[in-house]
Amino acid sequence: MVFSRAIKIAPSILSADFADFGREIQAIEAQGADWVHVDVMDGHFVPNLTFGPPAVAAFRKHVKTVMDVHLMIAPVDPYIEAFAEAGADIITAHVEAGPHIHRTLQAIRATGKKAGVALNPGTPAEAVAHVLDLTDLICVMTVNPGFGGQKFIDMTAKIRTLRSMIGDRPVHIEIDGGVTTETAPLVARAGADVLVAGSAVFKGGSVANPAPYGANIRAIRDAAALATNARLA
Ligand code: DX5
Ligand code: ZN
Repeated sequence: MVFSRAIKIAPSILSADFADFGREIQAIEAQGADWVHVDVMDGHFVPNLTFGPPAVAAFRKHVKTVMDVHLMIAPVDPYIEAFAEAGADIITAHVEAGPHIHRTLQAIRATGKKAGVALNPGTPAEAVAHVLDLTDLICVMTVNPGFGGQKFIDMTAKIRTLRSMIGDRPVHIEIDGGVTTETAPLVARAGADVLVAGSAVFKGGSVANPAPYGANIRAIRDAAALATNARLA
């Protein structure tokens, strides 16, 4: 993975057909997804349940791009090794999931995987100020985690703060929740480069009719890239 701040679209398979993950992953990648975002929920840290390591290992067989695993679980440390073995490329843990985010990020890096840290909407940018050198990605939640299809919460001030804190470090800023063609420009302009999108990518399409996935991915990417170019100009 070569570091780049170009806009990347990471469809969340939380919005896929749960009976057909293999073909859904193949379809979004064929339609232009840059990364595949996998939402792991434990019914404790968030009020919903999704996948464990065996499911993630099964997804891995189909992912040719980057498997971006978002752990919404507490505790997180006992499961890092299992998700690394399941084939995650990036493992993201929440700063709110325990008292030792520094140790958690060290443990992720020790597996040889990229280490991400996620911030809930109520958590300030400063919560990651002392772990920037242990981090490959900061995930700014723009919904309260647990479900797809929620309304975007404006975190552009936090994104701007993080972008200036990061400086020249090779750290991605990822946005997760409520990303659409309307909200993508706001977060891209503020400094985000990875846009997770579930409902906005999968809407209107299916494995049998995947073209809408591609149109949705391109529309979000173009809206964001236009805003980014405007920022750089
Ligand atoms: C929310 C998840 C998100 C979610 C995004 O807890 O972390 O990845 O699936 O879904 P949309 O894009 O529909 O808000
Ligand atoms: Zn997510």
